[in-house]
Amino acid sequence: MQTILVTGGCGYIGAHTIVDLIEHGFDVISADNLSRASDNSLLGIEKITGKKIKNYQVDLTDKKATEAIFIENPSIVGIIHFAAYKAVGESVEQPLDYYENNLFSLVHLLNMAVKYNAKHFIFSSSCTVYGNPESIPVTEHTPLQTAASPYGATKQMGETIVKDTAITFPLSAILLRYFNPVGAHPSTAIGELPIGRPQNLVPAITQTAIGKLPTMQVHGADYDTRDGSCIRDYIHVCDIAHAHTLALQFSIKKNEEKSCEVFNLGTGNGITVLEAIHAFEKVSGVKLNYEVGPRRAGDIVAIYANNDKAVKQLGWQCKYGLEEMMLTAWQWEQSLAK
Ligand code: WQD
Repeated sequence: MQTILVTGGCGYIGAHTIVDLIEHGFDVISADNLSRASDNSLLGIEKITGKKIKNYQVDLTDKKATEAIFIENPSIVGIIHFAAYKAVGESVEQPLDYYENNLFSLVHLLNMAVKYNAKHFIFSSSCTVYGNPESIPVTEHTPLQTAASPYGATKQMGETIVKDTAITFPLSAILLRYFNPVGAHPSTAIGELPIGRPQNLVPAITQTAIGKLPTMQVHGADYDTRDGSCIRDYIHVCDIAHAHTLALQFSIKKNEEKSCEVFNLGTGNGITVLEAIHAFEKVSGVKLNYEVGPRRAGDIVAIYANNDKAVKQLGWQCKYGLEEMMLTAWQWEQSLAK
């Protein structure tokens, strides 16, 4: 049996990826210390797939505890590494927590991948590594700018650590740079569970629409864009999830060692904040209570992907459009209110 270890498997993208892996015949285990997620996700995964997934509630910065997972599961042939802290603002307040958690866990996992021959290693990266790009849409060859936050720096350093490891050791590594994951599984059995007040746009929209938040702010409408608000590449979490399955299949089929490939995971469409809000209002029938406020420190004006490489080499096609992204996010928010 070939087992895939998904770290951060109880998290937003992790849980959706486990569902997709199961639906494509993979045997999966999770390692998640539940510091940023709930194991209720496992119930949601079981509701969708019928499969009970074992989660190892392990802190991956603990090398011995991490190794114990591999000793107990000699059938692990691949790792999809999601587990990391990912809040931009929090990373500025607590940089050392971010460097310790995000980098120590990665190094321990890579050591285990080498030691236990789990050669297929997929790393959760982010469009944040591009910083404020010199040109858009960004391709995988667009030069990386200085990261705008310690969070972004951990993703840039993480990519370097994985690349260097795959030069020396017989790993087949893949770096997946997500743009802005949004939405939820159509079943509403799993979805995004922000901790505290949501920093990201779409949960801020849905929490305002359902009344959890009295109002929300558009962080600036005086940018040099078509309507003054920032442009991002919003992509459905199920499209992101399926790209991981395709990347794993690509790595297994290629069966190369000492390789490291990078792929952009975005739709290729740049959407403004106000366009996203209007799309939400259209599909939900809810008039959103928002106000235009000052720009948010650290925001870049515009970024969206050139996704040709993932489309051509992974055979990846995005299935969800903006309105479906907003509809599934809204249905998930409504399911939480029940
Ligand atoms: C998108 C746009 C905001 C909230 C970050 C990380 C990235 C990834 C996704 C982890 C911006 C505007 C937002 C609000 C608003 N995280 N906005 N009002 O900053 O593009 O990306 O989260 O992987 O790595 O960098 O996403 O959703 O926070 O913001 O106007 O209440 O929405 O100013 O223009 P971002 P976001």
